[in-house]
Parts: sequence; structure tokens; C-alpha cells
Amino acid sequence: MYKPIKDTKRIVRDYVQQPPLVPHDVSRYEISKNFNKCMDCHSSSRYVEMNTTRVPVTHFKSRSGQELSNLSPARYFCTQCHVPQVDAKPLVGNTFKK
Ligand code: HEC
Ligand code: HEC
Repeated sequence: MYKPIKDTKRIVRDYVQQPPLVPHDVSRYEISKNFNKCMDCHSSSRYVEMNTTRVPVTHFKSRSGQELSNLSPARYFCTQCHVPQVDAKPLVGNTFKK
């Protein structure tokens, strides 16, 4: 396992549709069928108190665009899209530019 980065400020996005990168260690946060640790700090009821970013409304829509009262199942496993960062050299070269 690589070493997670030290917790930092939000990381600037490289393109508009990018899921923001996770600027903190998540290695001990549980995301399972019964519990989602991320929502302890990022839910709409906790984000002010925890000084985080709120899970956006896009995450409360079904695939067909219907509004849901709970997080969409397609958005439940946050780290499928929001990638935590580690202190490591890239495995392969990449010439992507903003
Ligand atoms: C203990 C509270 C806490 C938990 C739990 C937590 N976060 Fe965060 N998260 C924060 C804070 C605080 C920030 C904001 C850092 C800043 O703005 O300086 C943040 C920022 C982020 C951002 C960047 C948002 C942006 O707009 O750039 C993402 C993405 C994120 N967290 C994802 C996650 C995911 C995924 C999980 C679960 C695996 C998670 N967080 C669990 C506190 C938490
Ligand atoms: C299928 C991919 C996907 C999953 C899964 C997902 N997100 Fe996102 N997330 C995105 C994308 C794309 C954006 C940027 C566009 C948007 O706001 O919808 C985003 C934006 C965000 C933001 C930034 C909102 C802002 O106002 O800047 C936060 C915070 C966030 N997601 C948290 C979460 C948390 C917490 C989970 C898990 C409960 C999660 N996301 C699951 C794709 C995803």
C-alpha cells in the first residue's frame, strides 16, 4: 500500500465535469452496505458543522433524472469516482493538459 497524502485543501479540478479528488486520507473510512462514513461529514445535514463540501443535488437523482430523497445507489460508493491521493510517482507517463 502507498502512503496516503497528508490532509490538504481542496484540489483544483482539471476539467469541469471532473469528480473532485479527495484531499484527505480515507483509508480508515468504511463504505459498506450498512454504513457510509463519508456522509458523516459531507451530508446536507452535517456539512456546515463539519466545514466540508455538501454532496451535490446531482447525487440525489436517478439515472433517468428523477429526484430522490436519498443518495442515488449509483452514487453510494463515493470512491468509485472520487479518488483519494497517495504520495507516489505515476506508474505510466501521461501528457494530459488542462
Ligand atoms: C471527518 C470528516 C470527513 C469525512 C469522514 C470525509 N471527509 Fe471528505 N472532506 C472533509 C473536509 C473537511 C474537506 C474539505 C477540505 C478543504 O476544503 O480544505 C473534505 C473534502 C472532500 C472532497 C473535495 C471536495 C471539493 O469540492 O473539492 C471530496 C471529493 C471528499 N472530501 C470526499 C470524501 C469521501 C469520498 C469520503 C469517504 C470515503 C470523505 N470525503 C469523508 C472531511 C471529511
Ligand atoms: C458515479 C460517480 C460519482 C460517485 C459514485 C460519487 N460522486 Fe460526487 N461527484 C461526481 C461528479 C462528476 C461531481 C462533479 C459534478 C457534480 O457536482 O455533480 C461530483 C461532485 C461532488 C462533490 C463536490 C460538490 C461541490 O459543490 O463542489 C462532493 C462533495 C461529492 N461529489 C461527494 C460525494 C460523496 C460523499 C459521494 C458518496 C456518497 C459521491 N460524491 C459519490 C461523481 C460521483
